[in-house]
Amino acid sequence: MKRIAVVAVAALATVVLAQEESKLEQTLKEQSAAADGMKLDGTPVELAKGRALFEKHCASCHTFRMLKTSNLGPDLSDVGTRLKKQEILESLIFPSRVIADKFKASIVETKDGDFLNGIITRKTATSITVEVGQNQKAKIIPSSKVKLMRPSSTSIMPNGLTDEMSKDDVSNLVGFLMSPMPKAISPAKPKAPLRKSGG
Ligand code: HEC
Repeated sequence: MKRIAVVAVAALATVVLAQEESKLEQTLKEQSAAADGMKLDGTPVELAKGRALFEKHCASCHTFRMLKTSNLGPDLSDVGTRLKKQEILESLIFPSRVIADKFKASIVETKDGDFLNGIITRKTATSITVEVGQNQKAKIIPSSKVKLMRPSSTSIMPNGLTDEMSKDDVSNLVGFLMSPMPKAISPAKPKAPLRKSGG
């Protein structure tokens, strides 16, 4: 009896996970198909809302232009020119699918039996510093307490950041990230000497 119950629960969990996954895939498809700078209903994205969402959900790990907040994750200032909309959405909806080497996390097991998934930002002869994100302080672990360290395939960027957002808000956030760099803050380029016309 017990075993059947366990199997049933496991099967149910698999079904729930698969449903969750396909809902996210659907979000990815819909949002990628919408025109750049537009919401799914064809009206323009609201940049102020996008900015507020960024500050609430992303700024603890990312910098965006004048919002110089954190360098735990990649600087997103020019993400709109580096990545296609579909790729930005994919990074947001499925953080662990593609992880740049520089931001790969490690799993650290301590002799006390704790497991940490984080980015090792500092290693000395006596300790390691692990950043786990999500507004938690960096953890400093004495080397003598470290039992095992291995590369992790999970990003420290949390899953499900879009779950509590409406479809409009996902558009607003991505539209904000893809908005053109305002002239005033783009790096000053040396002025090219004026060329005489007709010469
Ligand atoms: C806990 C820290 C954390 C939070 C919070 C977080 N991210 Fe990330 N993000 C990362 C890390 C680390 C990476 C690099 C590894 C990876 O790709 O998952 C990353 C990668 C990305 C990338 C890919 C960038 C590139 O240059 O390849 C995008 C886009 C992104 N995040 C957007 C967001 C957005 C939008 C939010 C808020 C809704 C957010 N992130 C919240 C840590 C975080």
